[in-house]
Amino acid sequence: MRVDVVSIFPEYLAPLELSLIGKARQDGLLDLRVHDLRGFTTDKHRTVDDTPYGGGAGMVMKAEPWAQALASVAAAGGGNGAKPVLIVPSPAGERFTQALAHELAEEDQLVFACGRYEGIDERVIEWAAEHFTVRPMSLGDYVLNGGEVAVLAMVEAIGRLLPGVVGNPESLVEESHSDGLLEYPVYTKPSTWRDREVPAVLLSGNHGKIAQWRRHEQYRRTAERRPDLLEAFDAGKLPRADRSALYDLGYDVVEGHLRARPSVAGTNGADTQHDAEADASA
Ligand code: ADE
Repeated sequence: MRVDVVSIFPEYLAPLELSLIGKARQDGLLDLRVHDLRGFTTDKHRTVDDTPYGGGAGMVMKAEPWAQALASVAAAGGGNGAKPVLIVPSPAGERFTQALAHELAEEDQLVFACGRYEGIDERVIEWAAEHFTVRPMSLGDYVLNGGEVAVLAMVEAIGRLLPGVVGNPESLVEESHSDGLLEYPVYTKPSTWRDREVPAVLLSGNHGKIAQWRRHEQYRRTAERRPDLLEAFDAGKLPRADRSALYDLGYDVVEGHLRARPSVAGTNGADTQHDAEADASA
Protein backbone atom coordinates (compact mmCIF):
# COMPACT_ATOMS: atom_id res chain seq x y z
CA MET A 1 0.00 0.00 0.00
CA ARG A 2 1.13 3.53 -0.73
CA VAL A 3 0.46 6.23 1.84
CA ASP A 4 1.19 9.95 1.43
CA VAL A 5 0.91 12.37 4.32
CA VAL A 6 0.94 16.13 3.71
CA SER A 7 1.65 18.34 6.73
CA ILE A 8 3.33 21.58 7.75
CA PHE A 9 5.03 19.53 10.51
CA PRO A 10 6.57 16.54 8.71
CA GLU A 11 8.67 15.76 11.83
CA TYR A 12 5.42 15.03 13.68
CA LEU A 13 5.14 11.80 11.67
CA ALA A 14 8.57 10.50 12.76
CA PRO A 15 7.04 7.79 15.04
CA LEU A 16 5.88 6.04 11.88
CA GLU A 17 9.55 4.99 11.46
CA LEU A 18 9.32 2.90 14.65
CA SER A 19 8.01 -0.49 15.68
CA LEU A 20 5.73 -2.58 13.43
CA ILE A 21 4.90 0.25 11.02
CA GLY A 22 8.59 1.19 10.69
CA LYS A 23 9.42 -2.45 9.99
CA ALA A 24 6.57 -2.74 7.46
CA ARG A 25 8.12 0.22 5.63
CA GLN A 26 11.57 -1.35 5.68
CA ASP A 27 10.12 -4.64 4.44
CA GLY A 28 8.40 -2.90 1.53
CA LEU A 29 4.88 -3.73 2.75
CA LEU A 30 4.05 -0.07 3.24
CA ASP A 31 5.39 2.73 1.01
CA LEU A 32 4.80 5.74 3.27
CA ARG A 33 5.97 9.21 2.30
CA VAL A 34 5.63 12.44 4.23
CA HIS A 35 5.48 15.76 2.34
CA ASP A 36 5.99 19.30 3.65
CA LEU A 37 3.08 21.49 2.53
CA ARG A 38 5.39 24.51 2.54
CA GLY A 39 7.35 22.87 -0.28
CA PHE A 40 4.34 23.59 -2.49
CA THR A 41 4.21 27.35 -1.81
CA THR A 42 5.67 29.88 -4.23
CA ASP A 43 6.13 33.01 -2.11
CA LYS A 44 9.25 34.05 -0.20
CA HIS A 45 7.61 33.43 3.21
CA ARG A 46 6.22 30.02 2.22
CA THR A 47 2.77 31.13 3.37
CA VAL A 48 0.19 28.43 4.02
CA ASP A 49 -2.54 30.39 5.86
CA ASP A 50 -4.58 33.58 5.73
CA THR A 51 -7.43 35.29 7.58
CA PRO A 52 -10.95 33.83 7.24
CA TYR A 53 -13.54 35.44 4.96
CA GLY A 54 -16.48 36.50 7.10
CA GLY A 55 -14.23 37.24 10.05
CA GLY A 56 -13.72 35.26 13.21
CA ALA A 57 -10.86 33.82 15.18
CA GLY A 58 -7.79 32.11 13.80
CA MET A 59 -6.42 31.45 10.34
CA VAL A 60 -7.49 29.25 7.42
CA MET A 61 -5.15 27.16 5.25
CA LYS A 62 -4.82 28.57 1.73
CA ALA A 63 -6.19 26.57 -1.19
CA GLU A 64 -3.35 26.76 -3.71
CA PRO A 65 -0.52 25.06 -1.75
CA TRP A 66 -2.94 22.23 -0.92
CA ALA A 67 -4.02 21.82 -4.55
CA GLN A 68 -0.37 21.71 -5.67
CA ALA A 69 0.54 19.17 -2.98
CA LEU A 70 -2.44 16.92 -3.59
CA ALA A 71 -2.03 16.98 -7.39
CA SER A 72 1.61 16.01 -6.92
CA VAL A 73 0.88 13.00 -4.67
CA ALA A 74 -2.03 11.86 -6.84
CA ALA A 75 0.28 11.82 -9.88
CA ALA A 76 3.07 10.07 -7.95
CA GLY A 77 0.73 7.31 -6.80
CA GLY A 78 0.56 5.91 -10.33
CA GLY A 79 -2.48 3.88 -9.30
CA ASN A 80 -4.41 1.43 -11.44
CA GLY A 81 -7.00 3.99 -12.49
CA ALA A 82 -8.97 3.89 -9.22
CA LYS A 83 -9.10 7.23 -7.43
CA PRO A 84 -6.89 7.31 -4.32
CA VAL A 85 -8.70 7.92 -1.04
CA LEU A 86 -8.04 11.34 0.48
CA ILE A 87 -8.53 11.29 4.23
CA VAL A 88 -8.95 14.69 5.83
CA PRO A 89 -8.68 14.33 9.62
CA SER A 90 -11.20 16.63 11.25
CA PRO A 91 -13.42 16.63 14.33
CA ALA A 92 -16.20 17.32 11.80
CA GLY A 93 -15.57 14.06 9.92
CA GLU A 94 -17.23 10.65 10.09
CA ARG A 95 -16.07 8.51 13.00
CA PHE A 96 -12.97 6.39 12.27
CA THR A 97 -13.69 2.81 13.41
CA GLN A 98 -12.12 -0.63 13.20
CA ALA A 99 -14.54 -1.45 10.36
CA LEU A 100 -13.24 1.59 8.45
CA ALA A 101 -9.65 0.57 9.17
CA HIS A 102 -10.40 -2.80 7.52
CA GLU A 103 -12.08 -1.10 4.56
CA LEU A 104 -9.18 1.34 4.04
CA ALA A 105 -6.59 -1.45 4.36
CA GLU A 106 -7.92 -2.76 1.01
CA GLU A 107 -7.01 0.45 -0.87
CA ASP A 108 -3.96 0.90 -3.13
CA GLN A 109 -3.23 4.48 -2.09
CA LEU A 110 -4.27 6.61 0.86
CA VAL A 111 -3.47 10.31 1.11
CA PHE A 112 -3.78 12.14 4.43
CA ALA A 113 -4.16 15.94 4.43
CA CYS A 114 -3.24 17.29 7.87
CA GLY A 115 -5.08 20.53 8.46
CA ARG A 116 -3.99 23.02 11.15
CA TYR A 117 -5.42 26.30 12.41
CA GLU A 118 -9.18 26.60 11.70
CA GLY A 119 -9.01 24.14 8.81
CA ILE A 120 -8.45 24.07 5.03
CA ASP A 121 -10.29 26.34 2.55
CA GLU A 122 -13.42 24.29 1.74
CA ARG A 123 -12.93 24.74 -2.02
CA VAL A 124 -9.92 22.41 -1.82
CA ILE A 125 -12.18 19.64 -0.54
CA GLU A 126 -14.63 20.25 -3.42
CA TRP A 127 -11.84 20.35 -6.01
CA ALA A 128 -10.16 17.26 -4.57
CA ALA A 129 -13.32 15.20 -5.18
CA GLU A 130 -12.46 15.28 -8.91
CA HIS A 131 -9.22 13.37 -8.24
CA PHE A 132 -9.84 11.49 -4.99
CA THR A 133 -12.52 9.75 -2.99
CA VAL A 134 -12.61 12.33 -0.19
CA ARG A 135 -13.34 11.13 3.36
CA PRO A 136 -13.20 13.65 6.22
CA MET A 137 -12.61 11.51 9.33
CA SER A 138 -12.66 12.07 13.07
CA LEU A 139 -10.88 10.06 15.75
CA GLY A 140 -13.53 10.97 18.28
CA ASP A 141 -15.58 13.76 19.78
CA TYR A 142 -12.77 15.98 20.96
CA VAL A 143 -10.56 18.57 19.28
CA LEU A 144 -6.87 18.12 18.50
CA ASN A 145 -4.58 20.93 17.38
CA GLY A 146 -4.18 19.42 13.94
CA GLY A 147 -4.50 16.25 11.89
CA GLU A 148 -1.04 14.80 12.59
CA VAL A 149 -1.88 12.92 15.80
CA ALA A 150 -5.01 11.52 14.13
CA VAL A 151 -2.88 10.35 11.18
CA LEU A 152 -0.47 8.55 13.52
CA ALA A 153 -3.44 6.65 14.97
CA MET A 154 -5.15 5.91 11.66
CA VAL A 155 -1.97 4.79 9.85
CA GLU A 156 -1.17 2.43 12.73
CA ALA A 157 -4.71 1.02 12.84
CA ILE A 158 -4.77 0.51 9.05
CA GLY A 159 -1.13 -0.50 8.59
CA ARG A 160 -1.27 -3.35 11.12
CA LEU A 161 -4.07 -4.94 9.07
CA LEU A 162 -1.92 -5.17 5.91
CA PRO A 163 -0.85 -8.75 5.14
CA GLY A 164 2.48 -9.59 6.81
CA VAL A 165 2.66 -6.57 9.13
CA VAL A 166 1.55 -8.35 12.33
CA GLY A 167 3.58 -11.54 12.74
CA ASN A 168 0.74 -13.67 14.09
CA PRO A 169 -2.48 -12.78 12.23
CA GLU A 170 -4.46 -14.71 14.89
CA SER A 171 -3.84 -11.81 17.27
CA LEU A 172 -5.94 -9.61 14.96
CA VAL A 173 -8.94 -11.88 15.43
CA GLU A 174 -9.29 -11.86 19.21
CA GLU A 175 -8.98 -8.18 19.96
CA SER A 176 -11.32 -5.39 20.93
CA HIS A 177 -13.79 -4.34 18.21
CA SER A 178 -12.95 -7.28 15.91
CA ASP A 179 -16.33 -8.86 16.75
CA GLY A 180 -18.20 -5.81 17.99
CA LEU A 181 -17.24 -6.44 21.63
CA LEU A 182 -14.38 -5.33 23.87
CA GLU A 183 -11.53 -7.76 24.47
CA TYR A 184 -11.49 -10.07 27.51
CA PRO A 185 -8.88 -9.44 30.28
CA VAL A 186 -5.51 -11.17 29.99
CA TYR A 187 -3.01 -12.43 32.60
CA THR A 188 0.53 -13.85 32.64
CA LYS A 189 2.92 -15.40 35.19
CA PRO A 190 3.13 -15.46 38.18
CA SER A 191 -0.30 -16.95 38.95
CA THR A 192 -0.31 -15.16 42.33
CA TRP A 193 0.88 -11.57 42.35
CA ARG A 194 0.59 -9.36 45.45
CA ASP A 195 -2.11 -11.66 46.84
CA ARG A 196 -4.10 -11.48 43.61
CA GLU A 197 -4.91 -14.71 41.81
CA VAL A 198 -5.34 -15.35 38.12
CA PRO A 199 -8.96 -16.57 37.57
CA ALA A 200 -8.85 -20.32 38.25
CA VAL A 201 -10.54 -21.29 34.98
CA LEU A 202 -7.50 -20.02 33.03
CA LEU A 203 -5.28 -22.54 34.87
CA SER A 204 -7.75 -25.41 34.36
CA GLY A 205 -6.56 -26.51 30.93
CA ASN A 206 -10.23 -26.85 29.89
CA HIS A 207 -10.23 -25.01 26.57
CA GLY A 208 -14.02 -25.03 26.20
CA LYS A 209 -14.51 -23.50 29.63
CA ILE A 210 -11.76 -20.96 29.01
CA ALA A 211 -13.35 -19.88 25.72
CA GLN A 212 -16.74 -19.53 27.40
CA TRP A 213 -15.28 -17.56 30.35
CA ARG A 214 -13.51 -15.20 27.94
CA ARG A 215 -16.67 -14.67 25.93
CA HIS A 216 -18.64 -13.87 29.07
CA GLU A 217 -15.92 -11.47 30.22
CA GLN A 218 -16.26 -9.73 26.85
CA TYR A 219 -19.98 -9.26 27.51
CA ARG A 220 -19.38 -8.11 31.08
CA ARG A 221 -16.77 -5.56 30.10
CA THR A 222 -18.74 -4.30 27.13
CA ALA A 223 -21.90 -3.92 29.24
CA GLU A 224 -19.94 -2.00 31.85
CA ARG A 225 -17.83 0.24 29.62
CA ARG A 226 -19.56 0.42 26.23
CA PRO A 227 -23.26 -0.48 26.45
CA ASP A 228 -23.71 1.29 23.09
CA LEU A 229 -21.72 -1.54 21.47
CA LEU A 230 -23.99 -4.19 22.99
CA GLU A 231 -27.09 -2.44 21.64
CA ALA A 232 -25.53 -2.64 18.14
CA PHE A 233 -24.35 -6.24 18.54
CA ASP A 234 -25.87 -8.99 16.35
CA ALA A 235 -27.34 -11.35 18.95
CA GLY A 236 -29.40 -13.38 16.50
CA LYS A 237 -27.52 -16.67 16.75
CA LEU A 238 -26.12 -16.66 20.25
CA PRO A 239 -25.78 -19.96 22.11
CA ARG A 240 -27.97 -20.41 25.14
CA ALA A 241 -25.10 -19.96 27.61
CA ASP A 242 -24.30 -16.57 26.04
CA ARG A 243 -27.94 -15.44 26.23
CA SER A 244 -27.98 -16.49 29.85
CA ALA A 245 -24.79 -14.55 30.63
CA LEU A 246 -26.28 -11.50 28.94
CA TYR A 247 -29.53 -11.96 30.83
CA ASP A 248 -27.54 -11.84 34.07
CA LEU A 249 -26.00 -8.59 32.87
CA GLY A 250 -29.47 -7.15 32.37
CA TYR A 251 -29.98 -7.76 28.65
CA ASP A 252 -32.78 -9.53 26.77
CA VAL A 253 -32.54 -10.66 23.16
CA VAL A 254 -35.35 -9.01 21.20
CA GLU A 255 -35.58 -9.75 17.46
CA GLY A 256 -31.87 -10.54 17.25
CA HIS A 257 -30.79 -7.43 19.19
CA LEU A 258 -29.78 -6.93 22.78
CA ARG A 259 -32.04 -4.65 24.77
CA ALA A 260 -31.29 -3.51 28.31
CA ARG A 261 -34.19 -4.50 30.59
CA PRO A 262 -35.86 -1.32 31.89
CA SER A 263 -35.25 -2.37 35.50
CA VAL A 264 -31.49 -2.40 34.95
CA ALA A 265 -31.07 0.04 32.03
CA GLY A 266 -28.30 2.45 32.92
CA THR A 267 -27.22 0.53 36.03
CA ASN A 268 -25.35 -2.29 34.25
CA GLY A 269 -25.98 -4.50 37.25
CA ALA A 270 -27.44 -7.97 37.27
CA ASP A 271 -30.91 -8.42 38.68
CA THR A 272 -30.01 -11.02 41.30
CA GLN A 273 -33.55 -12.34 41.56
CA HIS A 274 -33.29 -13.42 37.95
CA ASP A 275 -29.82 -14.94 38.21
CA ALA A 276 -31.12 -18.27 39.48
CA GLU A 277 -33.65 -18.44 36.65
CA ALA A 278 -31.03 -17.71 34.04
CA ASP A 279 -28.62 -20.22 35.53
CA ALA A 280 -31.31 -22.83 35.56
CA SER A 281 -32.01 -22.33 31.85
CA ALA A 282 -28.30 -22.45 30.88
N1 ADE B 1 -8.26 17.21 14.00
C1 ADE B 1 -8.64 17.91 15.08
N2 ADE B 1 -9.39 17.18 15.88
C2 ADE B 1 -9.51 15.96 15.31
C3 ADE B 1 -10.18 14.77 15.64
N3 ADE B 1 -10.91 14.66 16.74
N4 ADE B 1 -10.09 13.72 14.80
C4 ADE B 1 -9.39 13.83 13.66
N5 ADE B 1 -8.73 14.93 13.30
C5 ADE B 1 -8.79 15.99 14.10
